[in-house]
Amino acid sequence: MKKRIGLIGFGFIGRYLLAKAEDDDLMEIDFVYDVDSQRTAELEPSSVLTDVSQLQQRHVDLVVEAAHPLAVRELGPQVLGQADLLIFSLTSLADDAFRKQMAERAEAANRCVYIPHGAVLGLDGLQNCLARLQCSRKRSLIGANSKAKNSRSSAFIPGAKSP
Ligand SMILES: NC(=O)c1ccc[n+]([C@@H]2O[C@H](COP(=O)([O-])OP(=O)(O)OC[C@H]3O[C@@H](n4cnc5c(N)ncnc54)[C@H](O)[C@@H]3O)[C@@H](O)[C@H]2O)c1
Repeated sequence: MKKRIGLIGFGFIGRYLLAKAEDDDLMEIDFVYDVDSQRTAELEPSSVLTDVSQLQQRHVDLVVEAAHPLAVRELGPQVLGQADLLIFSLTSLADDAFRKQMAERAEAANRCVYIPHGAVLGLDGLQNCLARLQCSRKRSLIGANSKAKNSRSSAFIPGAKSP
C-alpha cells in the first residue's frame, strides 16, 4: 500500500516532491497546505487544505514540511500527534527548548521526526574539504621549495598566515 504524504509548503521543494510522487509506486500526496493560497490554486481542491485546522481530518503516514521555520514551530507539535514529520526548515530546531519539545512530543506520540540528509550535506562537504586542506598544508610545509606554491596553499587553510 502506498504511503500517504501531506505537504506543508508548496514552493520549490513542495512542487518537486509532488511531481516526483506522481510517478511513484510507494507514495502518494494526500494534501498540500500553503499559507499563500495562490500557490496551490492550480491543484485539485480536494487535495488542498485551506486552513491548518483541517490537518486533523487527514490521515497520513508522513507530513513533509518544506515551508519556513515558523511553520515547523506552529504546526510541528500538532503534526506529530497524527503522523511522522520530515523537516526541511531545520533552523527551527536550533532553539534548544523547541527541539526538546519536539523530541518529547514525538516520543509521547510514538512518531518520528526525519531530518533529510540534504540538510547536513554542506557540513559533510566542509569536513571533507577540511581533510584535504590539512593534507595540502602538510604538502606545502614539507615540499617547500616554491614560495609561491606555499603561499597559495596556506591561503586556503583556516587560521594560517601567508609567509
Ligand atoms: N534542509 C535542506 O537541505 C534544505 C534545502 C533547501 C531548502 N530548505 C528549506 O526548506 C524550506 C522550503 O524551501 P523552498 O526552497 O521550497 O522554499 P520556497 O520559498 O520556494 O517555498 C516555501 C513555501 O512555503 C510557504 N509557506 C511559508 N510559510 C508557511 C507556513 N507557515 N505554512 C505553510 N506554508 C508556508 C510559502 O508560501 C511558499 O510557497 C525553506 O525553509 C528552506 O530554507 C532546506
